[in-house]
This record gives sequence, structure tokens and C-alpha cells, in this order.
Amino acid sequence: MTERDFVLNGDFEYPESGVVAWKAPSNIALVKYWGKKPNQIPANPSISFTLDACATTTSIEFSKLSEKSNTFSFDLFFEGKPKEDFKPKINTFFERIEKYVPFLKEYHFTIKTSNSFPHSSGIASSASGMAALALCLMTIEKRINPSLEDSYFKKKASFLSRLGSGSACRSIQGDLIQWGNYDAISESSNLLGVKYPFKVHPVFKNYHDTILLVHKGQKTVSSTVGHDLMHNHPFAKQRFAQAHLNLDRLKTIFEEGNLDNFVEVVESEALTLHAMMMTSLPYFMLMKPNTLEIINRIWEFRQKSKTHVCFTLDAGANVHVLYPESEKQEVFQFIQDELVVFCENGHYICDRIGNGAKEMRIKNNN
Ligand code: PMV
Repeated sequence: MTERDFVLNGDFEYPESGVVAWKAPSNIALVKYWGKKPNQIPANPSISFTLDACATTTSIEFSKLSEKSNTFSFDLFFEGKPKEDFKPKINTFFERIEKYVPFLKEYHFTIKTSNSFPHSSGIASSASGMAALALCLMTIEKRINPSLEDSYFKKKASFLSRLGSGSACRSIQGDLIQWGNYDAISESSNLLGVKYPFKVHPVFKNYHDTILLVHKGQKTVSSTVGHDLMHNHPFAKQRFAQAHLNLDRLKTIFEEGNLDNFVEVVESEALTLHAMMMTSLPYFMLMKPNTLEIINRIWEFRQKSKTHVCFTLDAGANVHVLYPESEKQEVFQFIQDELVVFCENGHYICDRIGNGAKEMRIKNNN
């Protein structure tokens, strides 16, 4: 598919008003996206587990303006309160997607959004937030054009959310999503996330992700800046090639269920992501001392217990602890006994691999 396939064309009658709502999950990359080209095109393909508990719920009430506006007209409420400082990000998102959803300036929108995870937990809400918003806009598009097919709906939601935040395009569906051109998956695309099409061993069903909140404050360097620093990065070329090789390795791993190899690819990807940060110019570090403490404890415990617990990191200090359902009890006990002490205020979130976003039914009072 090309960008042109996502432009809404035709003579439609616009509904006067309505309300739509979606709950979209976060996701955790196994092979990381780090580095991009213009228009949120990834420099390398990535793959992620869709999460379940960490999610954003967004509703949009829309009412038709008496005449088309020159600017985007919307109010934004975050956890029940007006949130002016989120508005510029949404405005930029609307600017980027306007040519694909030409009805944006026909309406006034009241956007209400909230996260299932605590605010300022250091968990990025941009993926789940942009996915929920894009899905709401797609439901409005479907009200305008009821002939829209479900598969196109999901593709376009992923396409639009990518323009808000790259990794958001992996938060529409579950449970394993691939994004970015990758030779082995013919339907893969730089424009949107697709469901991983090959065999996945049952050991990966119900995989757990316990997120240890090591540092709940703002990140010192945003992912936008981090992605940019991959331009002229001395190791960029090797890193982008490595992502393809790790996807190749994962294909066999998913098929055979070899957890030792899974651990190796996933941890190597996490450390490579942070190594890229540490070797860019300017260099920076998002891991904290407790991130390293946790990693070392995981390595010690894995050796001792012969389990397959492993870690991954996103662009921050928090640690995602991954483990299969069959090792749940032993690993969770270890987390409580040895790792929770390294979390800020002892906080952590129990999550697991999930099935993607869900539409929420809310009463239409209009
Ligand atoms: O979607 P962004 O621009 O916030 O970038 C996310 C990058 C990582 O979380 C570090 C990796 C990934 O693939 O999700």
C-alpha cells in the first residue's frame, strides 16, 4: 500500500455529531526501532509484544461546525481536567494527518483521555495515546463512510497513529506486531504495523511483562532527539543491519520456542539500544544505577534457577521483565523478593501480552 491509499476521497455526507471511544494498549519492542527518516519512516524494522494492562482510553465527542474552520478546533481533557500542554502535540498530529482525514476542520472535538498506568510513571503513553486517538478518528471516518472494510480500518488506524508516534502503529492489534520493510514478510511496510504472519510456538502465548518502575520522572532526552542522533551515528549502518538479522533469528525462535535464544536476542537488542545512546554525539544515558542492579540480579537468578526470565528496556530507566506463563510463580516470587526493592516507591506493573485495541461503547447523549 502507498500513502495515497489512505486519503479519504469522495462526496460524503458528514454526520452532525456523535461520540466514539477506544482503549488502546502500549507495546514493548523485542527488536527495537531507533532511528528514522522523514515522515516517521523507520530506519530499520522492529517487532513488539502488544501489552494488555498498560493502556490509554480516549473518547471524542464531535460536533459539526457551522462552516469549515481554518484551524483545528478541539478541547482536551486528561484524567478529567483540561490539559493545555498536551494540545500542541495533538495539533501537530492533526497537521500531519489532515490530508488523509479531510474532515478534521469540519468539526469541533472534545477529546477526553486517561491512562491505566499512573501519570509520570516513566511509562511512555505516546504509543497507546496516539493509537487510541487514531482509532477514534477512524470510527468517525467509518460513520462518514460506512462501507469501510475492517482490514482497511485497522491498516489506516496504524498508518495514522504512526504519524503521531512511530511505535504507536504497533499498538492497534495484538499480539505480535511487525513494523517496517523486512524481506521475509511480504506484507510488511514502513507505513504501518502488521500482525506477525508466521508460526508462533505456544510458549509465547500469555507471556508476562512485569514493568519495574525504576525512575518515574521525565526522561532527560526525548525519543525524538534520540532517533535524530542516529543520523551520522558511527554505528548506525551496522545497527540497522543487525535489526534485520535479529528478526531472522526471531523467526526461527518463534517457530521452535527456543527460549534460551529468545533471551539472547531480546537482551542484546535492549543493550544495543542503550549502547546507541551512549555512543551518539552528544552521548547520553537513560539507565540508572538501579536498572543495572536489576539486570545483574536477573542474570544471577536465571543461572541459578534455570528459568528463562529476561529483561528488555525502552528509552528509559524502567525494566520490563519478561517470562513465560509456565515460570510465572517462581519468577514473580523472585521479582518480589529481590527486584521490587530497586523500584521507586516499590512500584511495578504486572502486564502480559495482549490482543490489541478495543472499541468502547459509550452512550451517545447528542
Ligand atoms: O515511537 P517513539 O518515537 O517514541 O520511539 C520508540 C522507540 C523505542 O521505544 C525505544 C523502541 C521501540 O521500538 O518501541
